[in-house]
Amino acid sequence: MPPVATTSVQSDTVLEVVDLRTHFVTDDGTLPAVDGVTFSIKRGRTLALVGESGCGKSVTSYSILRLIQKPGRIAGGRILLHSARAGTIDIAQFNDNSPGLYEVRGGLVSMIFQEPMTALSPVHTVGDQIAEAILLHQPVGEAEARRLGIEMLRKVGVSAPERRFDQYPHEMSGGMRQRVVIAMALVCRPELLIADEPTTALDVTLQAQVLGLIRELQRDIGCSVLMITHDLGVVAQVADEVAVMYLGRIVEHGPVREILKHPRHPYTQGLLKSIPSLNTGARLASIPGSVPSLQAIPPGCPFHPRCPHAVAGRCDTGTPPTLQPAAAAEVTVACVRAGEIPVS
Ligand SMILES: Nc1ncnc2c1ncn2[C@@H]1O[C@H](COP(=O)(O)OP(=O)(O)O)[C@@H](O)[C@H]1O
Ligand SMILES: [Mg+2]
Repeated sequence: MPPVATTSVQSDTVLEVVDLRTHFVTDDGTLPAVDGVTFSIKRGRTLALVGESGCGKSVTSYSILRLIQKPGRIAGGRILLHSARAGTIDIAQFNDNSPGLYEVRGGLVSMIFQEPMTALSPVHTVGDQIAEAILLHQPVGEAEARRLGIEMLRKVGVSAPERRFDQYPHEMSGGMRQRVVIAMALVCRPELLIADEPTTALDVTLQAQVLGLIRELQRDIGCSVLMITHDLGVVAQVADEVAVMYLGRIVEHGPVREILKHPRHPYTQGLLKSIPSLNTGARLASIPGSVPSLQAIPPGCPFHPRCPHAVAGRCDTGTPPTLQPAAAAEVTVACVRAGEIPVS
């Protein structure tokens, strides 16, 4: 079934994910890794998806590019890409091998994976890999692909790009390879870049450089970014909006400045308290316990067993509704006690 396409897109929104459900069907039952996730990203802006390991961030991003493998499947929801070039496309409706899907992947939407080093083939030069991405999505010949590739390497800060173009990944440092991965992701000028923990494997200095580079190229290309991270420090550096994810659901969402200053969900408050102190580097406090497995999702609010504000009878029954605090119209928070507990 061909996805719905309209000819003109005026919307200032590039991506709308609506009630996305991605499930893994296993011997232990159906595991709802993503369980009714809704968010949107504005053109040219950055949304950060943040949460501890195992909360469903990667599964969400893989779902957007339809990279979920069996036994996983998208069980429901819409993934609307409002492309300025291709009109509105519901990515969730594509068949697995639909040609439209290949136009989306790497062309309209591209991704930097959590393990950037594995994104490069060791047996091809970086130039061949960049050129391949260009030839797949742009109507140019090989000589022009080489020229565009070298220009992109220069843009991402690779020195002597003409020479580097013909090198193999193993001839480069880790930081240089990361720049190559970013060049590959952005060379076709995608409308949306998904970056899944792009700096987790890097040391702090390199991390700041790479985040700065992504910001700079984003401005240059005018693309939107979905930044996936477990690190609220990264959120503060790069994002305009933040969605906090816990056990497959978004528990708080809003403008970065508001959420970091006035977190209303106890989970967000806990994440903020566990950021290492700037002065001492010591973690002030961490959230007790760990993220439960999907086989044993607690009833009621799934965070209640770890929550310092949980109240029996209210927090352990029923799914918490998503509320809009009176004092912050752009914020949503899924906590029945959001209006009662202090905004830290
Ligand atoms: N292939 C799979 N089979 C079963 N469960 C999976 C599979 N892939 C991911 N999951 C589960 O989905 C949940 C979310 O994983 P993930 O999106 O990778 O978390 P995050 O990126 O936030 O660390 C985890 O509980 C994980 O165990
Ligand atoms: Mg992940």
